[in-house]
Amino acid sequence: MPIIQTPHLSMPKLGLGTWPMKGEECARAVASALEIGYRHIDTAEMYDNEEAVGQGIRDGGVPREQVFVTTKVWWENLAAPDHALEQSLKRLALDYVDLFLIHWPNPAVPLAPTLAMMAVLKERGLCRAIGVANFTPRLLREAIATGAPIAANQVEYHVMLGQDPLLSICRENNLALTAYSPLGKGGLTDDPALARIAAKHGVTGPQVALAWLVGQEGVSAIPKSSRPENQRANLAALSLTLDDEDRAAIAALPKDRRFVNPAFAPDWGS
Ligand SMILES: NC(=O)c1ccc[n+]([C@@H]2O[C@H](COP(=O)([O-])OP(=O)(O)OC[C@H]3O[C@@H](n4cnc5c(N)ncnc54)[C@H](OP(=O)(O)O)[C@@H]3O)[C@@H](O)[C@H]2O)c1
Repeated sequence: MPIIQTPHLSMPKLGLGTWPMKGEECARAVASALEIGYRHIDTAEMYDNEEAVGQGIRDGGVPREQVFVTTKVWWENLAAPDHALEQSLKRLALDYVDLFLIHWPNPAVPLAPTLAMMAVLKERGLCRAIGVANFTPRLLREAIATGAPIAANQVEYHVMLGQDPLLSICRENNLALTAYSPLGKGGLTDDPALARIAAKHGVTGPQVALAWLVGQEGVSAIPKSSRPENQRANLAALSLTLDDEDRAAIAALPKDRRFVNPAFAPDWGS
């Protein structure tokens, strides 16, 4: 499993997304992913599945220290990230998570004190690293400027949504960029351009979409799959190397298709 290594974290490049799985389905998917070779699991307090994720981690039989676990504090709870993380750890039945993220920015809550509290949680060993999600370039710069040890920004990123400004900031500041909805919520599976590249390599369109992401410096991806066969296919995408012709075909795809855009999302252009 290739990893992203920065001063703040060692993150496996491919992880399992767990939203919107819950209960038994979620626990089974996490256990199966770990058995297959995944070492990175993504959850959040908002997903209402942390108990199941914890169960899946125990069932997967991989030593805790070999699994990279991310959870997130919901944007309405940013005034008390300490309380949120303590509750998440209880539900997960873990002593620490590897990465603790602000799930969405909240303009009504000052960022610096939230990040300062999260840095204290890192010092206390309740999380190994801290970071943000859904931060635009402006917000990410603001977060970095607080001096908090931000390790990652998790954002929607796939072959049909560009993130060049964020990638530049992440690389300049040694941050990982984690791509969520890397398969466009499953909406990219039938794209003809991806299918042509896939046919050339004897793989599938989703594998091409994932290979494009994880082949980029500092980028990890967290596809969700409840099916062991799709989990295996997604893991196998790590071995696929795209060539210049493939990358040019992907570069020519539209780069403005956003699948996740709730009412509380920031102004993405900022
Ligand atoms: N930070 C945030 O605000 C945020 C927002 C959205 C998502 N996320 C995280 O990112 C994770 C992934 O994003 P997502 O769930 O929105 O979308 P996604 O991973 O892009 O797509 C998931 C869909 O693709 C299907 N799929 C997976 N592998 C496949 C394959 N090899 N071939 C064909 N279909 C395949 C899955 O179906 P099966 O299950 O049937 O395989 C599922 O329907 C989430 O689970 C969550 O952990 C974070």
